[in-house]
Amino acid sequence: MLDTAIFSWSENFRIGHGRIDQDHRAILHHLRALQCRPHAPCDVKKTLSTALKLRELCRSHFAEEEGLMRDFTDPVALVHRDIHTMRHGATMAHLDSVIAHLNGESEGIDLFKIIDRLTETLLMDITWLDFEMLTFTKVELSDEPGVVVSFPKALTRS
Ligand SMILES: [Fe+2]
Ligand SMILES: [Fe+2]
Repeated sequence: MLDTAIFSWSENFRIGHGRIDQDHRAILHHLRALQCRPHAPCDVKKTLSTALKLRELCRSHFAEEEGLMRDFTDPVALVHRDIHTMRHGATMAHLDSVIAHLNGESEGIDLFKIIDRLTETLLMDITWLDFEMLTFTKVELSDEPGVVVSFPKALTRS
């Protein structure tokens, strides 16, 4: 049985950017609710509602992160931005597949496999990509939820 404890917020996930950390908490909360399994069938209406909330949250969350990466100029940072943005796109595609399935629009796909892929891309965002992103940005970090941070300046390596 899947251990849903891995979707509980941990201080180890905190990257020090109030709004992003606040979003990550909410993403983990929704991701946990989405972990329906074949042996414990989900309530389709409730799961669809969770998936739609998660899609809206991810849409604004990824837009904010991509805004932080907009001014990157360092070649290594640009490679990071490409990979990070591509993973955001993959996450949104997985979410769309989950929603289509729950809407009865694509019965050919394996819902549980798509949820696993979605989980993998989102956990990668939270535990790895966003930490790496901040090494390329200069932001005034704050642990306060909702605090507006200054716009980043791309790092130039000497
Ligand atoms: Fe991200
Ligand atoms: Fe993120």
